[in-house]
Parts: sequence; C-alpha cells; structure tokens
Amino acid sequence: MKKLAVFASGSGSNFEAIAAAIERGQLEAEVVLVVCDRPGAKVEKRAERFGIPVLSFYPKSYDSKADFENFILQQLNDAGVEWIVLAGYMRLIGPTLLQGFGGRIINIHPSLLPSFPGKDAIGQAFEAGVKITGVTVHFVDEGMDTGKIIDQDSVRIDEGDTKEDLANKIQAVEHLLYPAVIRSLLQEKNKR
Ligand code: GRF
Repeated sequence: MKKLAVFASGSGSNFEAIAAAIERGQLEAEVVLVVCDRPGAKVEKRAERFGIPVLSFYPKSYDSKADFENFILQQLNDAGVEWIVLAGYMRLIGPTLLQGFGGRIINIHPSLLPSFPGKDAIGQAFEAGVKITGVTVHFVDEGMDTGKIIDQDSVRIDEGDTKEDLANKIQAVEHLLYPAVIRSLLQEKNKR
C-alpha cells in the first residue's frame, strides 16, 4: 500500500475526495499524514473525521523555509511517506522537499495550465471571458504551477454562470480527477 501525505492550507475538499476514494476501495493507497501550514484550517477537522494524523505548523515560527521543510521531511520519512500530494497548499515547495522527494510530488490546479497559473486561477479565467477552462494535475518543480502536466479535464463556462458556479463546477471535476490520476500514477510506478 503506497503511503501518501496530503499538504493543504484551507478547506481540504480535495483531501476528503482522496480519503473517501480510499475508503470506498477505489484507490489503493493510504494517507498517513496531512500537513497543514495554517493551524485551524478546515482540513484539520476533515482529517480528524478520517482518523488521519495532522502535522500543523506556523511557517513564521521558523527562521527559513529550509528549516520548516527539514522538520516536515523528517516527519514524512518517519511515517514512511512515498508521495506528496498537494491539495490547496498555498506555498511554493522549496529545494529541501524537492530533493527529498525527487519526482514524487504532485499538485492540482484549477485551470488548464499553462493558462492562468498562480493565485485565483478560477477568477482569472472568469475575468478573461474564456468559454472553456478546467483542472490540471501536474508534477511539482521549483516554479509556480510549471511542472510537467500529468492529466487535465475541461470545464465549460456557460452563459450566466457566476464565479461561484464556476468554482463549484471546477471542484466537482477536481474531486473525480485527482483520485483517478493518483490511482494511475501509483499503478504505473508499481510496474517499474
Ligand atoms: C483547489 O481548487 C485546488 O485546485 C487548488 O486549491 C483548491 C483547494 O481546494 N490548488 P480544497 O482545499 O481542496 O477544497
């Protein structure tokens, strides 16, 4: 059973979609740790409901990113984590974790990358007036949403849709796409 850590800063609905897929037997993996850089975020309560331990920390109480990433890396290694799954983690991953987990960190982003990288991708697409946007799952590198694309799914912006409607459609697609992509990624890696 592959061991995952999910990193989140906010609501954690993608974490929940992954944990629920595992519980339903649709994804052969185990989330052994949730890492949260905003103590008090809703994801903590969701993790508690699934009985998954949470590592919450205040980045500001460390001197540098390398310091807190070293601390996280230690916990991930102790827990036997093999893959890092970013799900609304609002922070760039630094060299410490990138080197520690070479090639085994993925992220989900609410646009069809390379369009609309960075913050508020849903708002960016909405303001731009595009008719089709979507969701991307990609490997994480040192850039902001620049790593190799693994899979994408599209979402249509219909006449009369509000930004909130669009956000709801995007999230519904994310909750299906992320567990499915993780499943195929783990199967591929098992074959090697
Ligand atoms: C998602 O839209 C994801 O694409 C982006 O952050 C959001 C996290 O949502 N990276 P949630 O916390 O999983 O509900």
